[in-house]
Amino acid sequence: MNVSEAIRRRRSVRAYQNKEIEPEKLERVLEAARLAPSARNMQDWKFIVVRDPETRRRLDEASNGRGWIGEAPVVIACCGTPIDYAMKCGHLTYLIDVTIAIDHMTLQAVEEGLGTCWIGAFNEPQVREILGVPDTARVVELLPIGYPAEDAPPERKPRKALNEIVCYERWE
Ligand SMILES: Cc1cc2nc3c(=O)[nH]c(=O)nc-3n(C[C@H](O)[C@H](O)[C@H](O)COP(=O)(O)O)c2cc1C
Repeated sequence: MNVSEAIRRRRSVRAYQNKEIEPEKLERVLEAARLAPSARNMQDWKFIVVRDPETRRRLDEASNGRGWIGEAPVVIACCGTPIDYAMKCGHLTYLIDVTIAIDHMTLQAVEEGLGTCWIGAFNEPQVREILGVPDTARVVELLPIGYPAEDAPPERKPRKALNEIVCYERWE
């Protein structure tokens, strides 16, 4: 599968099969995060791979208790640290760095036949407590990952047309 195909195939998957992820597949997904670019190549991120069912249930609870998040065989808590380093443009690097790494993982997951869903709707203090995340780090997103449920193929969400989001030379 090429990158373009993976980009086009990716969907947010909100229903998972009760099936383990092969370790080598999970490792390739994590490797995709490892290879992501980061500001000054600092790579100051941490990906907490949660497989324990009880911990996944608690993470689900901390994410509005929707059920399907905890049903994924793996939930990756994607964390950034340090949380105060800004680039010259003023933006905090950790948010950007971790986000790129997550996107790499979502695309590698597609190649592995796996589904993912970005989860930003979680109670961070609760998640920090569950996973023992120190004050020097922030949990940026949760990423459930697993085989998509066969009976609930994810819908394709519409996107704005290119001419609505792109302009040339100056903002207009
Ligand atoms: C930063 C971010 C946070 C998101 N948070 C959630 C979330 O908390 N719960 C959820 O069900 N989907 C979440 N999503 C998934 C989006 O709803 C989804 O990407 C969007 O509707 C487009 O659908 P698609 O991913 O299937 O193309 C999030 C996506 C992003 C990029």
